[in-house]
Amino acid sequence: MIVESLYKYVDYILYKLIIIPALWGLLIFCLLQHGRVKIKSTAQQEEEKRKEREKKLKIYVAARDACFSKRKDGVWDDEALQLTQQLLSSNPDFATLWNYRREILMHLETVKDEDEVQKIYEAELFFLESCLKVNPKSYGSWHHRGWVSARLPRPDWARELSLCDRCLSLDDRNFHCWDYRRMVVKMSGVPVDKELEFTDRLIGSNFSNYSSWHYRSTLLPLLHPESPEPPSPICEEQLLKEYELVQNAFFTDPNDQSAWFYYRWLLGRAEREEMISCVYVSRDEERVAVAFSRPVNVSIFTYSPKKNSIFTLKLPSIECRASCPCDIYFVLLGTVCRPAAGARCWCRDSATDQELFRSELSVEKTSVLQSELQSCNQLQELEPLNKWCLLTIILLMRALDPLGYEKETLAHFQTLKEVDSMRSAYYSDLCSKFMIENTILKMEYAEVRVFSISDKNLTTLCHLDQLLLVTHINLSSNQLQRLPPQFAMLQCLEVLEADNNSIESLEGVYHLPKLEEILLRNNKISTLADLQPLASCPKLKRLDLRGNPITQTSSIESQLAELLPSVTELLL
Ligand SMILES: *[C@@H]1O[C@H](CO)[C@@H](O)[C@H](O)[C@H]1NC(C)=O
Ligand SMILES: *[C@@H]1O[C@H](CO)[C@@H](O)[C@H](O)[C@H]1NC(C)=O
Ligand SMILES: *[C@@H]1O[C@H](CO)[C@@H](O)[C@H](O)[C@H]1NC(C)=O
Ligand SMILES: *[C@@H]1O[C@H](CO)[C@@H](O)[C@H](O)[C@H]1NC(C)=O
Ligand SMILES: *[C@@H]1O[C@H](CO)[C@@H](O)[C@H](O)[C@H]1NC(C)=O
Ligand SMILES: *[C@@H]1O[C@H](CO)[C@@H](O)[C@H](O)[C@H]1NC(C)=O
Repeated sequence: MIVESLYKYVDYILYKLIIIPALWGLLIFCLLQHGRVKIKSTAQQEEEKRKEREKKLKIYVAARDACFSKRKDGVWDDEALQLTQQLLSSNPDFATLWNYRREILMHLETVKDEDEVQKIYEAELFFLESCLKVNPKSYGSWHHRGWVSARLPRPDWARELSLCDRCLSLDDRNFHCWDYRRMVVKMSGVPVDKELEFTDRLIGSNFSNYSSWHYRSTLLPLLHPESPEPPSPICEEQLLKEYELVQNAFFTDPNDQSAWFYYRWLLGRAEREEMISCVYVSRDEERVAVAFSRPVNVSIFTYSPKKNSIFTLKLPSIECRASCPCDIYFVLLGTVCRPAAGARCWCRDSATDQELFRSELSVEKTSVLQSELQSCNQLQELEPLNKWCLLTIILLMRALDPLGYEKETLAHFQTLKEVDSMRSAYYSDLCSKFMIENTILKMEYAEVRVFSISDKNLTTLCHLDQLLLVTHINLSSNQLQRLPPQFAMLQCLEVLEADNNSIESLEGVYHLPKLEEILLRNNKISTLADLQPLASCPKLKRLDLRGNPITQTSSIESQLAELLPSVTELLL
């Protein structure tokens, strides 16, 4: 006891009487030093610096010239190695010099034995480490390191991995380092689960690690592969674990987008199944139009193969005799389509085809999505203005029950546009897409040929391939600025209502064989050229252009009569 307290006492004396005064002394010394340096005038300092720079530049230029002439003469010696080393340590992005260095090293490989080569390359790695310390984002240094590591007779991959770890812990967005790391992992055969643990560690220390979430998404399918049925790259058990991990992340910091991106990746991976959604046959027009569920390459329908989701084909004339009932069958991509007797078309019934628009998040079981929605709703109560959370809730609601959640979805979009006004155009387009999907889901294809989506703040049109058979479309009172090229898919369209929009361009109203009537009151059509596409619609009879700037043009009536001779009822 006594000895112990004696020690403590001695410690105390040491501390009070020696260490503290010593620290004070050091501090005073530093201050004095600092003060003395200050005494020099700035002009003097500048002059000194300039001289120093000039001297360095001279040395640099001389070394560079020496290197170049040596390379020209095909000299691969130690001196060249020294010179390039000096130059590269001050400027690691000098690609020519790295190339020269590689030539020298490859030459040395041929004249030295393996142990010597190993030593040379180890020295090279050491040198590279010092370069990376100066500039951790130098492409030249990382690239050269990759080259050296691949040639090293006895590589030490563990050391390389830990180098990457250190670099990434300083800056996890160092993509050269990620590239190198991937190479190391590949070359060394590090098991994928070790790598997954690595991302665990990164994410555990700071959730805001884009690169590690992303890296994770590339590793998981390798480690926990899943059968093609249901199509999902990772197995369900692991998926549930991932949900939990990522939820921890966004509950901890709801404004950190890296975790939300990963969450979206986890939730939505399904591709929409390729199938025929609609076939339309017109014997009068000798045409077949086929709509696919997603863009496909079909070369028989067009002369040059191109990706599209709708194709038309000229029908060879079919002779129908009373003795031969003339049913038409299509066998396309393994789907047999048989238009009902008398009818001229066949379509998948979108009302019963629940999967139609759910592809984005459809792989998961409903119960899983339901519980994800609950978690997000909880978070949203705490953070009502968090845009990531709102957007994820919208997507989950759409995956679960697009029509049932329509009202909530619209309200959430409204909030999103307010809290994230910079992206309000994106949200408007996304909302338009969902509104169109809902309207299509509500249609019963078999009977309804009218598609009405007026007064819904639409800013864009999509899924027009689903409307192949529609004869009447009402787009009034939206915020549309154009009728896009996909509009040409509405092959059966007879009446188009688009009053009260901001339409400037009609490029999609092109070659619509049945179009008879277009209502375009209160839009922004201003020149005759904007109406040019209509000239390709042979049956156009009625055109309403009231309230458009074009009506102010002089002699517009006669010009229109010339452009659109088939129109008999023109309202200006
Ligand atoms: C990513 O993880 C590393 C490793 O733990 C960490 O040091 C780094 O700070 C993280 N990156 C960010 C942006 O937080
Ligand atoms: C995590 O990384 C982000 C982005 O670099 C940083 O803003 C944040 O402060 C870090 N958080 C912690 C706890 O280190
Ligand atoms: C579709 O066609 C394009 C252009 O010819 C081609 O680049 C692409 O690979 C094709 N896709 C498929 C799935 O065949
Ligand atoms: C189209 O929508 C507008 C606006 O809702 C409406 O006034 C008009 O009657 C609709 N047209 C038809 C044919 O229903
Ligand atoms: C259209 O936008 C207005 C103004 O932002 C909003 O009040 C209205 O509810 C929206 N209508 C629909 C159907 O979303
Ligand atoms: C277009 O807007 C005007 C004025 O707001 C309104 O009176 C008219 O009913 C609207 N037309 C359609 C088809 O919605």
